[in-house]
Amino acid sequence: MGQLDGKTALVTGGTSGIGLAAAKRFAAEGATVIITGRRQETLDAAVAEIGAGAVGVQGDASDPADLDRLFAGITSLDVLFANAGGGEFGTLADTTPEHLASSFDRNVKGTVFTVQKALPKLADNASVIVTGSTSATGGSPSFGAYAASKAAIRSFASTWAGELAPRGIRVNTLVPGPTETPGLAGLDPEDTASLFKQLTVNVSLGRLGRPEEVANAALFLASAQSSFMTGSELYVDGGEVGV
Ligand SMILES: NC(=O)c1ccc[n+]([C@@H]2O[C@H](COP(=O)([O-])OP(=O)(O)OC[C@H]3O[C@@H](n4cnc5c(N)ncnc54)[C@H](OP(=O)(O)O)[C@@H]3O)[C@@H](O)[C@H]2O)c1
Repeated sequence: MGQLDGKTALVTGGTSGIGLAAAKRFAAEGATVIITGRRQETLDAAVAEIGAGAVGVQGDASDPADLDRLFAGITSLDVLFANAGGGEFGTLADTTPEHLASSFDRNVKGTVFTVQKALPKLADNASVIVTGSTSATGGSPSFGAYAASKAAIRSFASTWAGELAPRGIRVNTLVPGPTETPGLAGLDPEDTASLFKQLTVNVSLGRLGRPEEVANAALFLASAQSSFMTGSELYVDGGEVGV
């Protein structure tokens, strides 16, 4: 028996990194998985990699019209993993309105309207997982707009956990530390090795996380194993924050 047998799960940004690893894990546990991403070719490749009847829907999570199209094709959801997101480096001195808007559109607007538009489709007792970041805890030099956007997500999740509790819907924030994904490498494609080395400095376990390790925690939050958790933050960070 799989932990998600008979369940339908949507993973936004399910074509790469953490989202792809989670989509594969959910499918391996018996879920019918729907994934999204902006790039059609990457989406097609991910659907083939996941197998098990996975469905891909191209779209931008920060575009409400794309979200309407996505949810029009979904009847009912047991698991929503709002994972699509990312950011770029920029100090306070470098911050422009465009830089700020890009981080907040991608992470905050995308997550808010993904969860809002999913509401009519969420089954009672569904699990909603939003994606935070350890950068939201404490300062994050050169990554302020991204860190602030992830702090906003964590705040929204607490509010939504209260609003949706009467329906038995749980809302939790998954908080990855630095995890070796194409998205992380893309922050400094010229010198990824130095970036990765620098990002492990504050990780007690002395290494980056693997997407599969974050996916294991996503499965825990998606499944009945976490049935008494809502409004929680689950850190998967090798001890970056708590040690
Ligand atoms: N890796 C880390 O160290 C780390 C740490 C903490 C938190 N996180 C968070 O974890 C999540 C996944 O990150 P990752 O490292 O796995 O990144 P990734 O490898 O870049 O994957 C991101 C996924 O999201 C999709 N995506 C990005 N923006 C989107 C949008 N606006 N609409 C729809 N899909 C979108 C990407 O596909 P397309 O580009 O084709 O759209 C891709 O499928 C993000 O929210 C990130 O902020 C990551």
